Amino acid sequence: MLAVAICCENEVTQNDPKALIGEAAIDARVLELAGQISKDYENCDELVLVGVLKGAFIFLADLSRRLTIPRVIEFIAVSSYGSGSRSSGAVRLVMDVRGNIEGKHVLIVEDIVDTGHTLQYLIGMLESHGPASVKTCALVRKAERAEVEVNVDYLGFDIPDEWVVGYGLDYAEKNRTLPYIGIVTPSD
Ligand code: IMP
Ligand code: MG
Repeated sequence: MLAVAICCENEVTQNDPKALIGEAAIDARVLELAGQISKDYENCDELVLVGVLKGAFIFLADLSRRLTIPRVIEFIAVSSYGSGSRSSGAVRLVMDVRGNIEGKHVLIVEDIVDTGHTLQYLIGMLESHGPASVKTCALVRKAERAEVEVNVDYLGFDIPDEWVVGYGLDYAEKNRTLPYIGIVTPSD
């Protein structure tokens, strides 16, 4: 029989980040958000979920499977940070949605709202494609860090001003697959 060595990411990167939001709390909140979204869009033909790569991939996967309404998945990629935790300021589009969203109801699914620049940019960008509506959903938000006013229609949790990883979120590409949301101390 073939022996497979399974290596846990934390063993090779850094010590376990300090837990901020546990797996059970995330699961429960995702279920609540999915219920609310399903209710709000129950009369719409189809909801287009636009996941923001890479950070939203796990949240989008869980949220989308808990919806009870017709939905399709799109992805968009932007870049505003380098490899660390400092914002480079301007938001840059790396990959646009592939499908035609004209006349469709769109829900942007983000991992985290920090300064708000990324979400503000994305709303404007997607609105330029002529959708029926654009709303926003984010798993976490650092309210104290807001630099621009941007509306989050569906929010998982407000968190303190800390760098968080796990459940899709990274620090320099590490710890994205941690099952809970934890705090790390950036070195930059
Ligand atoms: P904003 O444009 O400042 O709101 O930044 C949003 C983007 O920055 C998010 O989509 C994340 O990719 C990244 N980001 C901000 N804070 C964190 C964090 O604490 N952990 C991981 N990524 C973060
Ligand atoms: Mg993001």
